[in-house]
Amino acid sequence: MHSLGILLSGRGSNFVSIADSIDARRIADARISVVISNRAEATGIASARERGLTALVIPSKGKPREAHDREVVSALKQHQVDLVCLAGYMRLLSPWFVQQFPRRILNIHPSLLPAFPGLEAQEQAFVYGVKVSGCTVHFVDEELDHGAIIVQKVVPVLDGDDERTLAARILEQEHVAYPEAINLVLRGNFEILGRRLQVKNEK
Ligand code: GAR
Repeated sequence: MHSLGILLSGRGSNFVSIADSIDARRIADARISVVISNRAEATGIASARERGLTALVIPSKGKPREAHDREVVSALKQHQVDLVCLAGYMRLLSPWFVQQFPRRILNIHPSLLPAFPGLEAQEQAFVYGVKVSGCTVHFVDEELDHGAIIVQKVVPVLDGDDERTLAARILEQEHVAYPEAINLVLRGNFEILGRRLQVKNEK
């Protein structure tokens, strides 16, 4: 049984889609051992508690990055987490954190990386005038929004869109992409050649 740790900072809809996918066995052989937020007011923490999951708030405000990361990593290890899923966790991980879970940290980003890394990616894409955007689930490495890509979903930008309608349609695809990527990583039948993730023949 795989043990997932979810890190979030806000709404937590990606966390809910992961939890629902585990309950529905769309993600096989996994459980969420702990949900951690750096912000006490994150609604994702309330949703986790409603589901009866262990949910911790480890405030980041005013702490040096690595000191906060050490607290978070210690909680993840205490709960024997073997896959860390960033789900709207609005903090950059220190290189030290990344090294604690080699190729065992995933992130979801609301654009087709490498386009529009960083904050407010949906708005950046809309303002730039792209005709398609989407979302990316990738391994976390020491650079922002940068590690090897696991799953991407494409979302067309429609004539009637504004930043909000586009972000809402991207979010729907995030909720499909993240469970799919987690399942793929947990099954482990892939290799990474350079940056390319390639699924191995299942025969
Ligand atoms: C999601 O759109 C996620 O892709 C984005 O934050 C939102 C969190 O929503 N993450 C980033 O922008 C990370 N760079 P949620 O709390 O409802 O899952």
